[in-house]
Amino acid sequence: MVKAVVLGAAGGIGQPLALLLKSNPLITELALYDIVNTPGVAADLAHIATPAKVQGFLPADDGLTKTLTGADVVVIPAGVPRKPGMTRDDLFKINAGIVRDLANGIAKSCPNAFVLVISNPVNSTVPIVAEVLKKQGVFNPKRLFGVTTLDVVRASTFVSEILGDLSLSKDIVVPVVGGHSGVTIVPLLSQSSHPLPAGIAQADYDTLVNRIQFGGDEVVKAKNGGGSATLSMAYAGAEFAFKVIRALKGEKGIIAPSYVSLEADAEGAAALTKELGQELAYFSSNIELGVDGVAKISPLGALTDAEKTLIQAAVPELAKNIQTGVNFITEAR
Ligand code: NAD
Ligand code: LMR
Repeated sequence: MVKAVVLGAAGGIGQPLALLLKSNPLITELALYDIVNTPGVAADLAHIATPAKVQGFLPADDGLTKTLTGADVVVIPAGVPRKPGMTRDDLFKINAGIVRDLANGIAKSCPNAFVLVISNPVNSTVPIVAEVLKKQGVFNPKRLFGVTTLDVVRASTFVSEILGDLSLSKDIVVPVVGGHSGVTIVPLLSQSSHPLPAGIAQADYDTLVNRIQFGGDEVVKAKNGGGSATLSMAYAGAEFAFKVIRALKGEKGIIAPSYVSLEADAEGAAALTKELGQELAYFSSNIELGVDGVAKISPLGALTDAEKTLIQAAVPELAKNIQTGVNFITEAR
């Protein structure tokens, strides 16, 4: 029995994500929460012939508590998306408060759930959730994840394009580490399961790295004021949620990059800190998932000089983003 929840379920990501979750036979209960439209989305999905019982809730009548009670996995895509010209940090003003309030609901109703944060800016919203859970005395660092899977999905796709065969994309694995915005997104292309063409021109390598780091902007620009990535994000969010669910059902050896608290694995954190040359409270690296959540945080491993330079650029920006999230809760009056 697995109860999955989507908070922000009527939105551009929320609806297709809920559809993909409803399609997964491992999920037996699916609860959808938003400030609008969830009864309609739930009624629609409920007609799909898969096991999950679907319910939609609104804020009235303590809907958030009803949504979250008994949840095993909570995915959060609630909040506003970017428009052209905005950075993810520009979303902080609105999304920080939304995520804080939802995290308080989680602390109250399902403190042991696995929490998967999609709402931007992820580098700061994950620390917000952690600080709320800490304040309520229920923080388990092994069960909180920033969803960075879209960066990994993009890296697989763009590498397959360079290799001239899109059919390879499903098998290509590129670790993407750091965080989820601009220069904090660091693809470790030297560790790609499918190496780049030998002798790839420096300019082509730089273009590929830039495209992975700023793939979100490509979509924001193409949508021209209509929001940011929703369908590819739903695909990526479902892929990560399914891995988490398989792990909590007992499957071993599942590895995926995710932005997590380094408190989740002291040994892994120590190795990572040595590599980074600086302590960070959160970082996205390859994570081994287990029944209790984060089982192991992997070190970065051997890096090229170009990758070391990318990491050096990412670290101070990440530190700043993390502090912004932490301060939002700890300095609140
Ligand atoms: P959207 O506007 O289409 O949907 C957001 C939904 O959140 C809306 O239905 C809205 O009603 C709901 N919402 C607002 N306040 C709420 C609250 N207090 N409680 C519950 N629901 C609430 O936006 P979207 O395109 O689905 O994007 C959502 C978020 O995901 C954005 O912050 C976006 O930047 C982020 N995002 C992250 C990634 C990633 O890789 N992590 C990728 C794409 C988008
Ligand atoms: C993305 O990477 O597509 C998301 O973070 C949305 C955005 O604002 O780019």
